[in-house]
Amino acid sequence: MKEIKRIAVFTSGGDAPGMNAAIRAVVRNALNNDLHVYGILRGYEGMIDGNIKRLETTDVSNIIHRGGTILKTARSQRFLTPEGRKQAHENLIYNDIDALVAIGGNGTFTGALHFSKEFPEIPIVGIPGTIDNDLFGTDFTIGFDTAVNTAVQAVDKIRDTADSHNRLFFVEVMGRHSGYIALHTAISGGAGGVLIPEEESDISDLIKLLKRGARRAKLFSIVIVAEGNRMGTVYDIAKHVEDQVDVFDDIKVTVIGHLQRGGSPSSFDRVLSSILGFSAVEALLQGNRGIMVGIKNNNTQYTPFKEAISKTKPFNKDLLRMAHILAQ
Ligand code: F6P
Repeated sequence: MKEIKRIAVFTSGGDAPGMNAAIRAVVRNALNNDLHVYGILRGYEGMIDGNIKRLETTDVSNIIHRGGTILKTARSQRFLTPEGRKQAHENLIYNDIDALVAIGGNGTFTGALHFSKEFPEIPIVGIPGTIDNDLFGTDFTIGFDTAVNTAVQAVDKIRDTADSHNRLFFVEVMGRHSGYIALHTAISGGAGGVLIPEEESDISDLIKLLKRGARRAKLFSIVIVAEGNRMGTVYDIAKHVEDQVDVFDDIKVTVIGHLQRGGSPSSFDRVLSSILGFSAVEALLQGNRGIMVGIKNNNTQYTPFKEAISKTKPFNKDLLRMAHILAQ
């Protein structure tokens, strides 16, 4: 295998707080190993357009606390095509890039897997960066902890007004295909219910739960709804409940939305990102390729891209059962 002298790092897919801390760790550990480091702007889009710039240690100064990504990000349609990937490959060769570090989620690693099959001489190591925490092969993804903290802060504020007005609130959190943000927000926000994509839920069960609470003089409540829940949109759910439950003074909907994607990363996310960024460079230098670096039981772990994208992370059913019991 060719000796690695020049590596490039990029972020792709939805941004996540902590991506900058991961970029910083990649750059600093690479420089510490006498590598030249490059940043590719806007993920695979920048790879196709040749938007590649040299990064020095000062380029990653003063970014550990910043949300978003200094390298920008994109969801690239062009990289889904063989022509797009060929163009990207030509640009990497032109810039003498020997290896890549890809920070992103499922779509990012799917692209990396295709590219690795077509151009195996350029090794790629991935870092899980998505607020959804839905990647197999890691207990936590970059940005999840910060996103949950943002959602919980919002729920705490909604609780004040819900209590004052005896209202029921449905709060929608992100998670198109995954309920991790919803479950953790529900537990730490003391919610009265949670609806997630991983669980078949029934509107009549929710109604029973809310009525039972009201009989115990629980005059307000907050239900956390994951975007991708199986019951419908948060507005439909609120309407159904409104038609059948008359124990609250009013029913309101709050969609937290992209607020969850921004903001300064939590200390947990900064440490996680630093470990993963640092480890990704180590992994490349030790000759690894086509893997995602993750954290399992406090140890770094390598998972092939193929598994990271095709296997479903086991959902913690005990935690869900506990959330339902504590919500009563
Ligand atoms: O980053 C993942 C995610 O936050 C999903 O939970 C959400 O559905 C999606 O991104 C929305 O992202 P965008 O609006 O940028 O396409």
